[in-house]
Amino acid sequence: MATSSLEFCKALLQEAKITHPFLHHPLYQRIYQGNASKIELREIIKQQGCFYLDTLRHAAWKIISVGGYTPTLEDLERQRALIPLVVSEGGEDTMGGKTTAHAFLFMRLAESLGVSKEELFSTAYLPTTVIEKDELFLLQRSSILEALCGGNIATESIHSDHCQRMAVAMEKHYGIPQRNLEFYYVHVEVETDHEDRAVQLLEKLAVSDEEQSRGLLALRRAITARRIFADGACQAFIGETVPRMPM
Ligand SMILES: [Fe+2]
Repeated sequence: MATSSLEFCKALLQEAKITHPFLHHPLYQRIYQGNASKIELREIIKQQGCFYLDTLRHAAWKIISVGGYTPTLEDLERQRALIPLVVSEGGEDTMGGKTTAHAFLFMRLAESLGVSKEELFSTAYLPTTVIEKDELFLLQRSSILEALCGGNIATESIHSDHCQRMAVAMEKHYGIPQRNLEFYYVHVEVETDHEDRAVQLLEKLAVSDEEQSRGLLALRRAITARRIFADGACQAFIGETVPRMPM
């Protein structure tokens, strides 16, 4: 029998905390501890651009996945609840706010590591990087349930913790000044709001056994995709295969 939807959401959030590679994978541990070389770091950041330069479309897909040809009133309400996520990715400065697009903040971060815009946009992506992005976008396109569990719950719930660690490491170990770390600090702030919105929506969407098993699978697919990225970057730039992580 299905558990209550609130309990279900809590279990997903807990699983993300325990298994997400952003918090546990040797690739990120290496960066947090200052053990990655600048060359390695540049290559990893360039690969991350594949996803981070495209988060506006990623967020927009989530809205497109709500409702169909003839949306219900509930669909319209759900679509509206997701608008702030799109605005924050695309830049609050488009709506009179201050923060610009997260992709632009990522470009600034890359430039401060010595990666020019030209180099960033012409990066040749590893197959594992492409597989990660394809899977994450597919989850957004599948349905609002997969989109929330594979996006907000799987990653945004732990993203502020990851970004806090990355910001500290970038400043302390790699000499990047705080003004160029806004990409991380902005995520430290916004992700709690994104997670709360996702939980509120999911409480109404993940009620049956079938919905809950689809949601759990979406979470695990997203986390696995992130792990595939990290494994690929480790092998390509650090020359290490990685021990198996808990599933
Ligand atoms: Fe973002």
